This record gives sequence, C-alpha cells and structure tokens, in this order.
Amino acid sequence: MATVLITGCDSGLGEEFALQYASRGDRVIATCLNPEELLARHDFGSNVKVMKLDVTDTDTVLELANELHSAKIDILLNNAGIPGPHLSLADTDLGLWRRMLEVNLIGAFVVSRAFIEHVARSDLKVIAFVSSRMGSIGLNNTGISYAYRSSKAGLNMIMKSFAIDLAPRQICVLGIHPGNIATAGDAGLTACASVSRMREVIAEAGPHQTGTFYNYNGQILPW
Ligand SMILES: NC(=O)c1ccc[n+]([C@@H]2O[C@H](COP(=O)([O-])OP(=O)(O)OC[C@H]3O[C@@H](n4cnc5c(N)ncnc54)[C@H](OP(=O)(O)O)[C@@H]3O)[C@@H](O)[C@H]2O)c1
Repeated sequence: MATVLITGCDSGLGEEFALQYASRGDRVIATCLNPEELLARHDFGSNVKVMKLDVTDTDTVLELANELHSAKIDILLNNAGIPGPHLSLADTDLGLWRRMLEVNLIGAFVVSRAFIEHVARSDLKVIAFVSSRMGSIGLNNTGISYAYRSSKAGLNMIMKSFAIDLAPRQICVLGIHPGNIATAGDAGLTACASVSRMREVIAEAGPHQTGTFYNYNGQILPW
C-alpha cells in the first residue's frame, strides 16, 4: 500500500487519480481548491484524506508539508494546472500567461521542493509531473499556445533538474503527458484510461527512469 499525494483533485485527471489510487487501497492525500465539493461528489473511504491546497499559496504548501512532517509519500503527483485556452499569437493574454506560469510551473516547483523529505523517506520515492507534449519543443509543429506551451516546457526543464539533484537520494522524477483527452489527437482516450496507463508508467518507475519525459502509454517523448 503506497501513500500518494495528488494536487488539483477538484476535477479531471486529478480527481480520477484520486479515485483510482483510492480504489486500490492506497493511502491518498487528495489536495484540491474546494474540498467540500469533492467530498460531496464522492464517498471516499478512510484511506483518503481530502485537503485544501492552492499550489500558488507558498505559505499553505509549507504548512501542509509541516503538518504531514512524519508522513512518507511514495508518489507525489503534480497534476494541478490550467490546461488552456490555447490562444493565437495575436490573442495571447499576458495576465493569463503569468497565471499559467504561477500554477503550472512555479506551483509544481514549490510543492515538489516542500515534500522532498517526505518522498525521500518513502519506499517508492517517485515525484511525477503531469506535463504535456505541448511543452515539447521538438514536437511543436503547429505553433500558437505561447502561454501553455512555455509553462509545460518550463515544467519539463525543472523536472530534469529535480531528477539530477535528487538522484543521489534515489528519488525518481518523471514527466508524463496524459494524452489528449476527448480530442481528435488521441481519439477516444478517456480520463479513466489515461490515468490507468499513467499509473502503470509510475508503477514501473525506478532510479533508471529518472529524468524521462513519457507519453501516457509508456513511450518516451522528445524534449
Ligand atoms: N486533459 C488533457 O487532455 C491534458 C493534456 C495534456 C496535459 N494535461 C495536464 O493535465 C493536468 C490536469 O488537467 P485536466 O485536463 O484534468 O484539467 P482540469 O480538469 O482543469 O484539472 C486541473 C485541476 O487543477 C486545478 N487547479 C487550478 N489552479 C490550481 C491551483 N492554483 N492550485 C491547485 N489546483 C489548481 C483546477 O481547479 P479549478 O478547475 O477549480 O481551477 C482543476 O481541478 C494539467 O496539468 C494539464 O495541463 C491535460
């Protein structure tokens, strides 16, 4: 039984991660912006703790890390993010861009740095970042989406630095693209199937996989 801390469980992939790990009997710390709403939707068992966490609120992140100071966190899942919109060059909104960097990039950094000791003392020792192939420079053939792309390209870069810096402590750090849910890109891919495949990638992770950027199906993606 692993302990998994997930950010951004209010909806989408984060909520699905919480449900799937919970149904396996893992201990889940499901963090979200609105715990009341999440708890109203699900009848979680005693293995799930729902806690409020805005990843941009550094003080609250540090308070939570302190509150959980004796916990071992096997899998830290940085999922919280603003997934769009994907605006054109002309329509790029600088306010939204700053907010995306704050949530998608700096928030993930703050959370990961705050929980290093919890992960280091666990058995599995995995930090995963839910990234996007839109953050891959090599795969960018279609342009637009300056804000989102740069937030995820930055996320890939910090993932790599965490991997190098934490390798001496045997912590495995991964980036994972969840696929394109319910779009033409990965036709028919559901959040349930995506999360199930990402959980497999995470389950197979060890020190040799650290610093790798994966597709949800286990393929390695280019930077
Ligand atoms: N779905 C896809 O096809 C796809 C593809 C590639 C990558 N991704 C990535 O997958 C992750 C999950 O996305 P999703 O598709 O499941 O979208 P989603 O349903 O919008 O989930 C993102 C969650 O993060 C929460 N969030 C936003 N700001 C936050 C903050 N400051 N602190 C904590 N939580 C915050 C959101 O809450 P609110 O909604 O209340 O703001 C939302 O519940 C994101 O990192 C996204 O970039 C998704």
